[in-house]
Parts: sequence; structure tokens; C-alpha cells
Amino acid sequence: MSHHEFESDFRHSGTIDFTDRQSNIDEATIAEMRQLVARYPDPRSALGPILHLIQSVDGRVSARGVELAAELTGATQAQVVGFVTFYTMYHRRPAGKHHVGVCTTALCAVMGGDLILDQVEQKLGIKPGQTTPDGTFSLERLECNAACDFAPVVMVNWEFMDNMTPDKAEQILDELAAGRSVQSTRGATITSWREAERVLAGFPDGRADEGPSVGPASLAGVNLARERGWTADSLAEGSAQ
Ligand code: FES
Repeated sequence: MSHHEFESDFRHSGTIDFTDRQSNIDEATIAEMRQLVARYPDPRSALGPILHLIQSVDGRVSARGVELAAELTGATQAQVVGFVTFYTMYHRRPAGKHHVGVCTTALCAVMGGDLILDQVEQKLGIKPGQTTPDGTFSLERLECNAACDFAPVVMVNWEFMDNMTPDKAEQILDELAAGRSVQSTRGATITSWREAERVLAGFPDGRADEGPSVGPASLAGVNLARERGWTADSLAEGSAQ
């Protein structure tokens, strides 16, 4: 009788490598972890930010990071690992200097996201989940970034690159590889994945208002409403045609 083995789509994702003891976490990092814990009534609430901070110094969630996160939040190491493996923003293997995400969820896919991903894979010589041998780029296939009005989108270190084409995406990679300045379409100038992770941990770099946070596509509806004098009340009364 034939039978089917269960196959996981994530079978190559792995877990934390506890034999890898390399870590840059020092006393200053631990002091910052304690600062994060102090921001919440329950220490466990600081787990997400602490893990982002660990990524900012170690380029991944390191074994040492897991041990400290557990110790400082009162969670078990197994709970920390469960948290890390559940959320896709946490990396168990070193990410590149620049982490590139290509959205291939429905709208971006039909607008060219799949073609962009193909071209980026060929350009970098890596597949999603991998990092280039020189450590410059890592690649991820992203689910919807809630930026469908700018589809197809690419993200670099979590900053938006809107209305992409395969060639535009390739050009951005060339600019970053050459160390030239790249501006996000709705956000700050690109720095590095580690610097972005520090901001996500809750240590702002003062550049939150550096670029535009909204684009014309997101404002089309509100602009039309203003032009025609529509308000929520008039819509409720059915007077807007
Ligand atoms: S489908 Fe790509 S941002 Fe929504």
C-alpha cells in the first residue's frame, strides 16, 4: 500500500544552531536589553524588540542571544526558539548587509513580482532564504506588504521600493553593491539591515521623517473626495454620486 510522507515547505529553514557560539553581544548590548525589558509591565513583552536588537549586533538570532533573551524575559529557551521560528522577520542564519524582499503575493505577482524575483535570483546567484557568499545580500520571498497600491514592491532592509520592474530592481542592487546612496520611495535612505534592525528594536536613528511616508496612489481616494466635496455624512445619506 502506498503512503504519503508529510512534506514541510520549510524543511530547509532549520533552527538555532547552538553549536555556533559566535556573538558580538557585549555588556552595552545587555544593558540595552535591560532597557527594553524596563519599557513593559511584563518582561516577556520585550522579547520581540530584544530579538531585533540581537539581530542588529549578531546579524542573526544567535545562540547566545537566545540564552540572554530567555534569562532577561523569564521565558524558557524553547519558548524563545518557538517565537523566533514563528515570525519570519527573525533569521537563524546570517542575513546579508542588505536584506532584499520581493513580494510575490497575488497583486504583486500578477503585476510582475514573480519576474522580479526570477531576475533578482539570477543576478545574485542565490535563492530565497540564502545569502551571497560575500555577505552583501540576502533574499526573501515576501508575503503582502500592505503596499498593493504600489505593486509590485521590493523591500530593502524593510524600506519600500515601489512600482518595481525587474530592471529597476537590478539597478538598485547594482547601486547598493557599489556602495552608492539609494533612497527608498517612501522612506529613508537605505543604510543596512543591521541598522534597520536596531530601529525596529526600539532605538530610533532620528531618520523616521527623512523620506515621504505616503505616495500619490494611497491619496487618490481622499483627493477625489476633497475635489468633489464628499464627506462621510454625505456618503451615508447617499447624496454623493
Ligand atoms: S501583494 Fe504585494 S504589497 Fe500587497
